[in-house]
Amino acid sequence: MSAVEPEKDVLHVVGGRPLNGTIKVRGAKNLVSKAMVAALLAPGRSVLKNVPEIRDVQVVSDLLRLHGVSVDVNGDTGEVAIDAHHVEMPAVSDVETLSGASRIPILFSGPLLHRLGEAFIPSLGGCRIGDRPIDFHLETLRKLGADVDKEHEDGIHITAPHGLQGAKIHLPYPSVGATEQTILAAVLAEGKTELSGAAVEPEIMDLIAILQKMGAVISVDVDRTIRIEGVRELKGYTHTALTDRIEVASWASAALATRGDVFVKGATQPEMMTFLNIYRKVGGEFDVTDEGIHFWHPGGDLHAVALETDVHPGFMTDWQQPLVVALTQAKGLSIVHETVYENRFGFTKPLVDMGATIQLYKECLGSLPCRFKQHNFEHSAVIFGPTPLAGQDIDVPDLRGGFSHLIAALAAQGESSVHGISLIDRGYADFRGKLAALGAGID
Ligand code: EPZ
Repeated sequence: MSAVEPEKDVLHVVGGRPLNGTIKVRGAKNLVSKAMVAALLAPGRSVLKNVPEIRDVQVVSDLLRLHGVSVDVNGDTGEVAIDAHHVEMPAVSDVETLSGASRIPILFSGPLLHRLGEAFIPSLGGCRIGDRPIDFHLETLRKLGADVDKEHEDGIHITAPHGLQGAKIHLPYPSVGATEQTILAAVLAEGKTELSGAAVEPEIMDLIAILQKMGAVISVDVDRTIRIEGVRELKGYTHTALTDRIEVASWASAALATRGDVFVKGATQPEMMTFLNIYRKVGGEFDVTDEGIHFWHPGGDLHAVALETDVHPGFMTDWQQPLVVALTQAKGLSIVHETVYENRFGFTKPLVDMGATIQLYKECLGSLPCRFKQHNFEHSAVIFGPTPLAGQDIDVPDLRGGFSHLIAALAAQGESSVHGISLIDRGYADFRGKLAALGAGID
């Protein structure tokens, strides 16, 4: 996607209208991009269904194509066909053009080492919600036998002169990306890999399901240990991606904040359970059907809650931002302790400018073990409500924070101009069309 001119990268919102209607949510951004990388592992053809039209899919497609892989994206049907019979090393200067576009390229490491013996990974992008280091990823690759050369200015060169070998790996924190890195690198490694302290998010389980279809042997224990028995070769897959539970929660929060009524087609219950529990405690109503989940504000007051973000099966960090907007409309003091990212409350400043009462704290306002204890990060928030919100000029800071600002603008009285709106295209397919379908006042 080409850069959008700043003056066109604005959404004007007339707030104060409830969102009412039906929208459809497709597959999870945080599975689809990794499933596309997995296709690289097999000298064959893979088909991924239920793929949303988002920028991350374009970035991964571009990087695959640079490696000689054929990628056919059908936005209408949501099908992506990937043919990885042929894989080649691109010119470093071509790969560098994708520097800063996404965090997914680091996951190309294992598959490229297996197919080509080397990989050049461009500098990573992604949301600025903390330091977001990749030390676990690189340590994992080294343990499996890779040589990592970080000297390059615009990327990392990785080689595996003797192939990859299974290893015992422990993650100091259950990182989603480092778990996926280990799995994608270990499936074709020689011997067994034991990964303890792994993340077990539903998107990781769906990735494992894809790899099993491809021929991999992977087991997951309840104590967060994932065992991978290396196999010699994998074949292409056909798979329907699980629904984007972050997008579902975002629309559910928008329904609550605007006192609306939204049916989210495609939403499924099992991976939403923790969110649904909190939604109910806040006072939101929902009804689970075979086609999706219906979310609505029942009228009257919403209730304040205390919650802590955590790795799965805890309350997702990506659910936190949209829900905080709804909590500005709940009666009493809500407390949110963010334990996954050290810097994920920056988005609250514009909410305060719009009239919300939110106080940030460096202390842990909760009981979960937290890596940010006694550090200087404002990672707890107290939200006092309900407070009316007033329309404002807002700059989108990151993907989830940006969507949350959009929700605030929809809930606010008066007009808002939301600048940098194209950032939201990274993770919310056709959000302008969906907002229009829900009766939002946008242009
Ligand atoms: C994934 O990011 C998601 N991104 C994030 O969604 C999501 O918030 C996050 O998982 C947690 O669920 C994608 O899947 C593309 P992590 P990831 O490694 O894998 C620290 C969105 O908006 N860490 O689980 O990058 C890290 O700093 C995005 O869709 C290290 O210290 O997250 C963080 O504090 C935002 N060293 C924690 O672990 C490492 O090498 C969790 O990060 C790796 C991570």
